[in-house]
Amino acid sequence: MLNEHKACKLDSRKRTSVPSTQQRLEIPNAPFPKGCKHSLVRSPLNTMTPRINAAVPGADQYFPVNIPPIGTSYSKDEYPQNANLPQLFRPITLKGTTFKNRIFTSPMCQYSSDNGHATDWHFVHIGALATRGVGAITMEATSVVPEGRISPQDAGLWTDSQIAPLKRIVNFVHAHDTKIGIQLSHAGRKASTLPPWIHDRFAKIDPTAPSAARNDEDGWLGSVYGPSATAHSPTYPLPRESTEEDLLRIEDAFLQSVERAKAAGYDYIEIHGAHGYFIHEFLSPIANERTDHYGGSLENRMRFPLRLIKKVREAWDKPLFVRISATDWAEGPEQENGVWKYWGIEQSKILVGELAKIGIDLLDCSTGGVYYKQKIPVGPLYQVPFAQAVKEAYPALVVGAVGLITTPQQAESVLEDGKADLVFLGRELLRNPNFALTAALELGTVIKPANQYERAWTRLYKPKH
Ligand SMILES: Cc1cc2nc3c(=O)[nH]c(=O)nc-3n(C[C@H](O)[C@H](O)[C@H](O)COP(=O)(O)O)c2cc1C
Repeated sequence: MLNEHKACKLDSRKRTSVPSTQQRLEIPNAPFPKGCKHSLVRSPLNTMTPRINAAVPGADQYFPVNIPPIGTSYSKDEYPQNANLPQLFRPITLKGTTFKNRIFTSPMCQYSSDNGHATDWHFVHIGALATRGVGAITMEATSVVPEGRISPQDAGLWTDSQIAPLKRIVNFVHAHDTKIGIQLSHAGRKASTLPPWIHDRFAKIDPTAPSAARNDEDGWLGSVYGPSATAHSPTYPLPRESTEEDLLRIEDAFLQSVERAKAAGYDYIEIHGAHGYFIHEFLSPIANERTDHYGGSLENRMRFPLRLIKKVREAWDKPLFVRISATDWAEGPEQENGVWKYWGIEQSKILVGELAKIGIDLLDCSTGGVYYKQKIPVGPLYQVPFAQAVKEAYPALVVGAVGLITTPQQAESVLEDGKADLVFLGRELLRNPNFALTAALELGTVIKPANQYERAWTRLYKPKH
């Protein structure tokens, strides 16, 4: 008996000998290995579950394997209430990559990078999400050049030494069967600014306090550029107008960052085309005052963003997301007497049509950020109508909704009503990284918590007929 157990004991150093989660799930009726009756049990799922705390195959450390993966729903045979899965927990496949549910983490700057390098803050922050069941994690705006960072402590992917700390995070997230992407960005004229928690302290006392990070505050005033030489607001850096050489250099930097994203192992890339940063600045008549072939007409304003995204598409064969701001929230009509006054949903729809032709896989629909006097009617689901308008215009394109989606019912209703295909959550996941699990509880679905946290989620495991 002892020998038998010894013989079939899985050596943790030979982790590759453990079948993958997928393999195990695909062999429901596999026989017990010869002479090893006691080392495996048939779970209620009729899958082969080892009676050892098996390791994630191929992972660079020992992590207990989760069957099924964290955040996926159990079979309806075991939990009848799962027969009619909420939309939130239905997997979605984009360009051959399957996301286990439709709760996506919105990119969120952490202002915590060390000269653009991810640190253990990022590892803990992102790792916490990966162990709690979200379908995907989009890492924060990550600049393709140093001067494209929003704040001095923003993330970057402009040099090879930035790959390793990101790869470590990606590997951990993958070991927990979660997809992870990176948002590639350039802040344009909104670069070289103070992190919000620094600036906001001063702005509370004096609303005219500079947002700009001076050079003695680790900023790079004098090296900030946008489409035009006008500042975002009186408290922001004064940019210079970017040249043709700048644009070609930035395109090249995006492509180099794409190669680094490949090396880090990301599952998808999101291009940051929103929130008043470089790409959005080209699109919006508010920020783009150019008179050359990059300014003026809609076709001209879209020229650089579309050329850039097309090049990224050609270089990246995994899912490609693009985040846009669908409106500048400026006063008056978007178009007057045939002139586009600011960026809005009508131009957004035209842009998205072009992006669809380029072959993007998902449109992440946000708003605002370019106009410093913007008046946003902030409230639950306030940006969803824009996602809905895009979805209605391009039903075949996968659309993500974002913005004050804070309850499972809200998120589920957006998907059920067909207003979007998935949701991006930002601040709610900062408050509650367990959103997927609490949503499952509230919506009456049984999903897998991490093995290590199962005892905190026993309420989930109640079969209901
Ligand atoms: C701390 C913080 C950092 C953010 N950083 C980014 C970012 O890097 N890129 C981006 O596109 N949006 C960023 N956003 C916007 C969020 O992704 C999201 O669109 C916004 O917060 C609205 O969604 P929510 O109501 O679910 O938070 C950030 C938001 C917060 C709160």
